[in-house]
Parts: sequence; C-alpha cells; structure tokens
Amino acid sequence: MKVLVVGSGGREHALAWKLRQSPKVSEIFIAPGNGGTRLEGTNIPVKDNDLPGIVSFAKENKIDLVVAGPEVPLVLGLQNALVKEGIPCFGPNAFAANLEGSKAFSKMVMHDSGVPTAPFQVFDEYERACAFVEKKGAPIVIKADGLAAGKGVVVATTTEEALEALESMMVKRDFGSAGERVVVEEALKGEEASFLAFCSGEDYALLPSAQDHKAVGEGDTGPNTGGMGAYSPAPILPADKYEETADICIKPILKHLAAKGEPFVGILYAGLMYTENGPFVLEYNVRFGDPECQPLLMRLDCDLASIMMACIEGRLDEVEVKVTPETAICVVMSAEGYPGSYPKGMELTGFDKAEEDDKVKVFQAGTEYKDEKTLSSGGRVLGVTALGTDLADAKARAYRAVERIGFEKSYFRRDIGDKGLKK
Ligand code: AMP
Ligand code: GLY
Repeated sequence: MKVLVVGSGGREHALAWKLRQSPKVSEIFIAPGNGGTRLEGTNIPVKDNDLPGIVSFAKENKIDLVVAGPEVPLVLGLQNALVKEGIPCFGPNAFAANLEGSKAFSKMVMHDSGVPTAPFQVFDEYERACAFVEKKGAPIVIKADGLAAGKGVVVATTTEEALEALESMMVKRDFGSAGERVVVEEALKGEEASFLAFCSGEDYALLPSAQDHKAVGEGDTGPNTGGMGAYSPAPILPADKYEETADICIKPILKHLAAKGEPFVGILYAGLMYTENGPFVLEYNVRFGDPECQPLLMRLDCDLASIMMACIEGRLDEVEVKVTPETAICVVMSAEGYPGSYPKGMELTGFDKAEEDDKVKVFQAGTEYKDEKTLSSGGRVLGVTALGTDLADAKARAYRAVERIGFEKSYFRRDIGDKGLKK
C-alpha cells in the first residue's frame, strides 16, 4: 500500500512512524511533513490545506490511502474530493467534520442526540450576545463558531472579559469569519480527559483514555497552547468505564450522523470534563489530538493501516484494536515564548542519546532539516514520548530523555502526568 499522510506536526510524525510499521505499507508520503517525517517516508511540498494539490498528488502516484492529520482539510472537504476520484480517505466527510468545524453545529448535534453538554445559546448578533452575557454574568464561556487554531474559546471569569471576547470575535473579527457567530455557554468545572474512537458508520473501536495539558504553565496556569504534553491512560477515565462513556458520547453521535445519511469514518475525539454531575462533552474533534496521538500510538500494538482501511470499508468488526497495558507519556518541548512569539532556527541534537532507552521515541513537530542539521521551525518543536510499566516509570523515562536533547531556548512543563500520579 502507498499511503499519504496530510499534515506537519508531531501527530503526523507519529502517524507516519506507526504506519511505516505496517507490513502492508510499502511507501509513505507526507504533505508537507517536517524534519522528523522525512525519516519515515518522503516529504512532498504540498500544504495541508491545498486540496487540489493533495488530490492530484494522490491520483498521479496511485495512493491507496490518504490519512488526514489535522481538521482543516477535512472541514474543507478533503474526504469528499478524494472519494470523487476513488481514493480512500481516513477521516470524515465535510458534513460530519462540522462537528469540529462549527461549534454551533456541534452543540446542536449534542443537544439533538442527548449528549450531556453545557447549556448554551448561539448568537449571530453582537448586541443580543452582549445582552445575554450581561444577564447571565460570569463565569461564562464564549466560543467562536468556526476554526480558530485552538484560540477561539474564552473562559471568562468576569463579565468584562466576556464582553471583550464578544467584541474581539464579532466586531473586530480577530478570527475572521470564524467569529461571525458565537456560542455562549455555561462554565463547567472539573478535570478534563480525551476519549477517542476509530469509527466506521455506527461501528466503533475505542482507544484508551488520555489527558492533554493545554495551559503553557505548570499547575495549568497561563495561556492555552496546542497542548504541552499528554499521557494515556488517564486515571480519571479508567478502562472499566470506557463502554458506558462511549454510550454517552460516541454512540449517540454516530447514530445521529448515520441517520442523516452522513456516516462518520475516522477518529471521533470527545473532549470530556468530569464535573460534580458526571462527564460532560466540551467539544468534539474529528481527528487524533496533538499531542494525545503520540502516547496513544506508542501504546497501539497492532497494524494501524489495517484498522484505517477497515473503518473505510465498513469492516471494523474484522479487526482488533490492541493496545499495550503500559502507560505512555509525551512531554512537549517548545521554543521559549510559545504560545506568544518565539525564536526559530535553533539546532536540535541528542535524538540518538534520548532513544538509547528503547521505550523512548522522539516525535518531531516544528522542525526542518537543512544543511544536514535539524532546526526548530515552530512553537511546539518536539514530543518526547516514553512507555513505562506505570505512569511514574513512563514519566521518569520521558524526562530523562528530555535532558539528553540539545535545544537552546527551549521550554517544557515539568509536571506532565502529575494529575494522574495524584490519583
Ligand atoms: P474547546 O475547544 O471547546 O475544547 O475548548 C477549549 C478548552 O476550553 C477546553 O479544553 C476547556 O479547558 C475550556 N472549556 C471549553 N468549554 C468549557 C466550559 N463550558 N466550561 C469550562 N471550560 C470550558
Ligand atoms: N490536544 C488537543 C487537540 O488536538 O485538539
């Protein structure tokens, strides 16, 4: 099989690394990839949102499977465009991808299918949204409807902050058309977990739970990032609760979409919050999380390409999604200053030393290979990932590996996994 992975982050490095282990996969291309994916296959100079470019490359090179890493191409209709050409795509069609592409759509689907989620209202008019916020008061959550690269959610602790968020989204248009419409919802309190499933219409196969660390600072302080680390399993969602949790947040969504004639194929990712009143869904993503993908794929103990093809061909019951009982953890090393402005071009060394421990894998994200050197080129640069007999063992291995990496002006959180260790 010839596989094309779309995207350029740590998630895509992990996808290419795992797909390369498949006995069925003969060749891997990554569009556009990074300094790490070039070690797993061939990077091609096609951007992840260049749908015509992706489709024509896939056609010309007789690609057997396209795997969409990020949400943007899916929301733009990558699956639809590929299917028209008879090319299999792992990822949902544009309609189903709206679960992530439009928060208003996602909340409506949750509401209609009985999924527990925070009470909400959708607004297209700024004045009405302001009046609602003033009536409700803080804390309150303001969400831009469309994709905003993870920056479109404001958990406001004061009414002023909420009104500012509305002005930024609806008047100043800081997120462009993504903020024309907003969702205003009740603020919930609790610990978060990520729960992902391989989906094929109404059939699904669950992955183990994971937990992301969105805030930049230790103790979950400071601004939100794309994710500073993740581990799996997350003790807040133990294995004996997976089935009942899927009944709450996976099954009803798949059923709803299938009934609409828009069956979901790909990864459905439920972002959960464990409140005093049980789990609530904060959001859905229609792809692997980054960095959750890295520890999840480290634990996956079976052929990823076979599972993806089974999802596409409606034969999920024929494959087994097997995972190791070990714990995996990913520590993200970023450039100093991220998620604000940060320097680029720092040389990265020590990967071999870090990987001397055979339970460690360094996934690359914002990196490029130039003049025989690996240089940083983005905010989140590396995802140092380790397996261990338990969370403490995995954590110790990951941080030992981090210390072996040479990376000036780097930053990483030292407390990845600590919420799980407390349990
Ligand atoms: P989302 O993109 O919807 O997952 O939101 C990003 C982050 O905002 C989540 O991971 C939560 O930390 C926070 N968040 C979203 N919705 C709520 C809510 N209703 N109450 C409290 N925090 C929220
Ligand atoms: N790690 C969260 C996300 O990928 O959306």
